[in-house]
Amino acid sequence: MGRRWLNLSTGLLSFAKVALGDPPFNNPPGVDVWCGKAYRETNSSFDPGGWLDPPTLNSGPNPLRLRLNVYPRYSFYLETEKKASFIVDTRVSDHDPYGKAYVNSTTGTNNETGPFTELVLKVSIGDTIAVDNVRVPVNSTGIEIPFDLDLAKLTGEAGPGAFVISGSSPDGSQTYDDLAQVVVLPERSDGGSMARLDHLNGGVHVSSSLTKGAWRSILPMGFYTRWDWISWLVDPDNNPEPPDLASNETISLQQYKERGYNLIHPVPPGGWASFDTAIFEKFLTICDELELYVMYDMRHTYLNLSSISYQLPRLQSHPSLLLYYTGDEPDGWTDPLNGTILAYNQIKEIDPYHPISLVLNCYNFYFKEYTSGADIILEDTYNLIKSSTFSTVYNTPCNRTYGDCGCDFCHINDTAYPEFVENPFQDVVERTNRMYQYQHWIGQKETKPVWGVPQWFFDADSFWSRWATRQEAIVLALLRINHGAMGLVGWIFPTSPEVESATTDLAKVLAREDVKRLLVDGKGHHLEPFNQEQDHENSSYDVAGWVCGDEMLVIVVWPKYTMPDGSVIALPTGGKNVTGVQVLFGDADWSWNGSSVVTKGTMPLEVSILKANFGGY
Ligand SMILES: *[C@@H]1O[C@H](CO)[C@@H](O)[C@H](O)[C@H]1NC(C)=O
Ligand SMILES: *[C@@H]1O[C@H](CO)[C@@H](O)[C@H](O)[C@H]1NC(C)=O
Ligand SMILES: *[C@@H]1O[C@H](CO)[C@@H](O)[C@H](O)[C@H]1NC(C)=O
Ligand SMILES: *[C@@H]1O[C@H](CO)[C@@H](O)[C@H](O)[C@H]1NC(C)=O
Ligand SMILES: *[C@@H]1O[C@H](CO)[C@@H](O)[C@H](O)[C@H]1NC(C)=O
Ligand SMILES: *[C@@H]1O[C@H](CO)[C@@H](O)[C@H](O)[C@H]1NC(C)=O
Ligand SMILES: *[C@@H]1O[C@H](CO)[C@@H](O)[C@H](O)[C@H]1NC(C)=O
Ligand SMILES: *[C@@H]1O[C@H](CO)[C@@H](O)[C@H](O)[C@H]1NC(C)=O
Ligand SMILES: *[C@@H]1O[C@H](CO)[C@@H](O)[C@H](O)[C@H]1NC(C)=O
Ligand SMILES: *[C@@H]1O[C@H](CO)[C@@H](O)[C@H](O)[C@H]1NC(C)=O
Ligand SMILES: *[C@@H]1O[C@H](CO)[C@@H](O)[C@H](O)[C@H]1NC(C)=O
Ligand SMILES: *[C@@H]1O[C@H](CO)[C@@H](O)[C@H](O)[C@H]1NC(C)=O
Repeated sequence: MGRRWLNLSTGLLSFAKVALGDPPFNNPPGVDVWCGKAYRETNSSFDPGGWLDPPTLNSGPNPLRLRLNVYPRYSFYLETEKKASFIVDTRVSDHDPYGKAYVNSTTGTNNETGPFTELVLKVSIGDTIAVDNVRVPVNSTGIEIPFDLDLAKLTGEAGPGAFVISGSSPDGSQTYDDLAQVVVLPERSDGGSMARLDHLNGGVHVSSSLTKGAWRSILPMGFYTRWDWISWLVDPDNNPEPPDLASNETISLQQYKERGYNLIHPVPPGGWASFDTAIFEKFLTICDELELYVMYDMRHTYLNLSSISYQLPRLQSHPSLLLYYTGDEPDGWTDPLNGTILAYNQIKEIDPYHPISLVLNCYNFYFKEYTSGADIILEDTYNLIKSSTFSTVYNTPCNRTYGDCGCDFCHINDTAYPEFVENPFQDVVERTNRMYQYQHWIGQKETKPVWGVPQWFFDADSFWSRWATRQEAIVLALLRINHGAMGLVGWIFPTSPEVESATTDLAKVLAREDVKRLLVDGKGHHLEPFNQEQDHENSSYDVAGWVCGDEMLVIVVWPKYTMPDGSVIALPTGGKNVTGVQVLFGDADWSWNGSSVVTKGTMPLEVSILKANFGGY
């Protein structure tokens, strides 16, 4: 989130950005753009470009393509580790431009033909075979195949740690190939943390002195935070006046952590070093003690590679550093298209141990280019706006090519999009889904996790209608999790007392060890609820479940302001019966029956977080 809060009391946190880097790359002279679109009344609409379309259907008699994707499970391994694994995806589809022709037929040893349902895999590096003759199902994802990590020290034709994969139909007539680059790093000795992505489940795993060297998965939940607030907390001698806060509560960083937030994302005030180095050092030391993870924001400086080189070495020995953040809505600002990848390469050269993130604000604007410089993609879709069709700030219509309504190409309450009238939170759902869909469209190999930025702020002078209510604040978070968000970083702390109390209650549940384990290390599924009264009529509940062993976490959201109609949700229990349901969050009553859980709706925007156990005793 950037420009929009210039008007706010937080305006002092703003830019410096303007002076840096190239001017927006695609606007006609004198035309201000957001997401590439003209938004001033005095300028007219033009096509901003950068729009990504879904791949078209393949043509011809055999339109199916199989894409073999093989990549290491973790973004890096340590030299001291022995075990590693590859993740294999074998998607088959008729609208994949990246795969290779697939015919569902293979010839057996007795010359009989049968369906081609298993791919025979071989993985090697140089002359050494890592995986031989392993059969994986065709059209599957997330198949894990272990290998000996020592082999990654070898050099193959494509370089050190580069494995060559060949897959074929059992008769050998159809072949597919891929390359998998395994990164092996030395163990750190400076006390700093190491954080890696789990490409199987999308989580972040961290290891440091705080975890006693073990890898621990985390579900990041916290806020972008005002630097004036943090400076005042950690350096009161130089900041005697408390900042003007939406909530006049003054809590310490320890209390922030105790509320269940495990992540903090200070918003840099500007300047070529992002933060006052001495105050930031004090802040990091407190975060180290609290095991409060830090998202390090370089929004004003990421285009200045020498500034990156200045900033990063100072952070390295702190175990609380979790990840970096470069572009803050680079697509909105139309930052140079090569900016995020240039910063990415610079950061990885200095510090290969932490992932790099950025937030996109636009609906569909140069997604491929901007996300090329990210390991983790955030979206900040703020749908609680005054209008999605007319900009009250700039006095223009808003549409695909023109205007800025605060939520790019959002359709809340727009009668031209009935689904978004019916479901006022559909913009958030759609955007989260699209951040994953676009990755498929561009042929992204390992899926980059998406994190959400819920609208936990209010700026009266701008596009926003009001503070989110308690229920809205929670719905904004849980809909994202149901659609695959692997982290939540709300804009902006301190927030309103009502939002803060809601997010605190939610954070306490998400921070539970069992909930985290299910959400980050379990397998997620979308579940189809149906209406209890009108047997099998579809229901508008948004439901997802995560399974681990005989436990399942279920998140149920009624994303409407109307009264919910009650629901039956069939859980994938593998034929077992539900033996117990614990309601971890929410006021709804739940009962269970066989492999289903059942509720009668009680209130608008109702949410429930359940833990179901199943088994057969
Ligand atoms: C765009 O609007 C600005 C004023 O906001 C004006 O100065 C400029 O001439 C306009 N440019 C075009 C191409 O209309
Ligand atoms: C296998 O079948 C094909 C056609 O069905 C035939 O032309 C071929 O001679 C057969 N080969 C053997 C070894 O039976
Ligand atoms: C191939 O054919 C088999 C048998 O008809 C079928 O079960 C399978 O789904 C097919 N696979 C694909 C990817 O079309
Ligand atoms: C491959 O699997 C997907 C997802 O399960 C399914 O929607 C699709 O129909 C399958 N493709 C083929 C060709 O069977
Ligand atoms: C916070 O305190 C200031 C000064 O006491 C007051 O002007 C302001 O209205 C208070 N804000 C809120 C949200 O209570
Ligand atoms: C870029 O960063 C360097 C510090 O490494 C600083 O001296 C320089 O002023 C910065 N450039 C801009 C345009 O801010
Ligand atoms: C990045 O793109 C800008 C144009 O936006 C260009 O001037 C610059 O040379 C490019 N830098 C590199 C290193 O490619
Ligand atoms: C959408 O409609 C609801 C109900 O009429 C209203 O409360 C809300 O403010 C509207 N939001 C927008 C963005 O138009
Ligand atoms: C968006 O609105 C502008 C101004 O009304 C109009 O000129 C333009 O054609 C519209 N664009 C689309 C895609 O409808
Ligand atoms: C109900 O859901 C199914 C599966 O999602 C869908 O195919 C069908 O069109 C829906 N029916 C109605 C009436 O919305
Ligand atoms: C599940 O419950 C039903 C009815 O209570 C019972 O008939 C069935 O045997 C149970 N199944 C298992 C696997 O326990
Ligand atoms: C469980 O399901 C059976 C069969 O659908 C039904 O008769 C029974 O009333 C249900 N029990 C509860 C507690 O919902």
